[in-house]
Amino acid sequence: MADFDVIVIGGGPGGYVCAIRCAQLGLKTACVEGRETLGGTCLNVGCIPSKALLNATHQLHEAEHNFAKMGLKGKSPSVDWKQMQAYKDDVIGGNTKGIEFLFKKNKVTWLKGWGSIPAAGQVKVGDEVHSAKNIIIATGSEAASLPGIEIDEDTVVTSTGALSLKKIPKSVVVIGAGVIGLEMGSVYRRLGAEVTVVEFLDAITPGMDGEVAKSFQKILAKQGIDFVLGAAVQGVTKGKGKNTVAYKLRKDESEHTLDAEVVLVATGRKPYTDGLGLAELGVEMEPRGQIKTDAHWATNVKGIYAIGDAIVGPMLAHKAEDEGMAVAEVVAGKHGHVNYDVIPGVIYTTPEVASVGKTEEALKAEGRAYKVGKFSFMGNARAKAVFQADGFVKLIVDAASDRILGCHIIGPAAGDMIHEICVAMEFGASAQDIALTCHAHPTYSEAVREAALACGDGAIHA
Ligand code: FAD
Ligand code: NAI
Repeated sequence: MADFDVIVIGGGPGGYVCAIRCAQLGLKTACVEGRETLGGTCLNVGCIPSKALLNATHQLHEAEHNFAKMGLKGKSPSVDWKQMQAYKDDVIGGNTKGIEFLFKKNKVTWLKGWGSIPAAGQVKVGDEVHSAKNIIIATGSEAASLPGIEIDEDTVVTSTGALSLKKIPKSVVVIGAGVIGLEMGSVYRRLGAEVTVVEFLDAITPGMDGEVAKSFQKILAKQGIDFVLGAAVQGVTKGKGKNTVAYKLRKDESEHTLDAEVVLVATGRKPYTDGLGLAELGVEMEPRGQIKTDAHWATNVKGIYAIGDAIVGPMLAHKAEDEGMAVAEVVAGKHGHVNYDVIPGVIYTTPEVASVGKTEEALKAEGRAYKVGKFSFMGNARAKAVFQADGFVKLIVDAASDRILGCHIIGPAAGDMIHEICVAMEFGASAQDIALTCHAHPTYSEAVREAALACGDGAIHA
């Protein structure tokens, strides 16, 4: 008899959620994690610490820029960087311990150490080999770098180093105008650093609705973030107290440099599968290094599954979690399902940016007939009251059926509001369904309803 019904390798949002669900479904489950704490990239060096720093620095920005307008007078707070780091570490600790508690509560065994798969049905951790009917790989991802750049996680950093800098830098060059670059760039801008973002493409946040991306860039520029777009970074040279980033503008091949105390390399992440022994097992991989799976997260080797950042798809915690729950159902003999058409994406800057479903660009490329309903937060009383009227809700619906195809929001609490649309899309709702739903006043969500009204006879407050 096998030691376990399921061994999950990796204790991130994909792995730990999968392990808990497996145990809830009555399977004898273990989870292998090599870090000192559970929660993976997301809880330890990703989603959670970055949101803690975004929260702290957002509050600072409010105190510096908006408190006086509301009659809250007095000295602006000064920044105690050590304490801000301690707050971030407390938030991490609270969350990672929470997962440990959930493992105990659900009787998931944590096998501490780095795991490998010597043969199908076996997982080796340290000197011990454990047998399992099913193995689920959830080993996540790591930061990708660029040729000509040597990361030291001190002044030339990935997101991991950027979350724990020794001091607040005076200047930061961010390479890559993606999610990490803009979130961490915002953190350091609000802390007073000069921030320049250098991006290879001609627009920020590739893949995002073009109109939202343009508006987002304008808002970030107003906050003092500089952008160099269409620039291919050639390398980073370390000097005394400063680093020099060399780049070529793609339009004319002209060569330029930028100096900064800290350089953040945020040019994407790559799947992490080192040391698992996948090549020896004959596990098929995708050309870009992800583990190849079928529609039920099964690899080509019987009894071995893979989920999360280690497989194809958006590298998002909630996508990993959904796959974790679904594959647990599959190994328990039930029907696991993930609707990849309805996975929201959120950038936690101020304002937040959130999207789900198709962009206008994608629909144009498909040649599909669609209608757009847009509503600016300028017409939303609540957003105006909190100085966050920059931004809009853009709802895209099928021209004939009025069915919702996508939604893109830039504005306050966009990351929470997007779920109204996610639920609507799951139920195959139309813009009219949203427009006919009573929305409480005064809420930011009224802007979503107004955008839905704009798909029909028109918004009221536009
Ligand atoms: P991971 O979270 O990477 O977990 C994998 C775990 O497996 C790790 O703990 C690793 O130590 C362990 N492991 C690897 N190999 C082995 C082995 N052989 N044996 C034992 N253990 C092993 N996503 C969002 O949705 N929202 C956000 O706001 C967000 N913010 C982010 C901010 C930053 C700075 C970063 C870097 C990422 C962010 N992400 C965010 C992405 C998110 O963190 C990932 O998509 C998510 O963590 C993927 O989950 P996972 O379980 O697949 O892998
Ligand atoms: P990303 O893929 O979001 O952005 C990388 C950016 O770097 C792109 O704009 C790309 O064009 C640019 N780039 C690539 N090579 C370049 C070069 N040589 N010179 C200049 N620019 C270059 O990747 P990022 O920001 O590193 O994030 C990694 C992953 O983590 C993402 O997949 C994201 O989903 C996830 N994440 C999610 C967050 C969230 O959901 N809020 C927050 C942070 C990360």
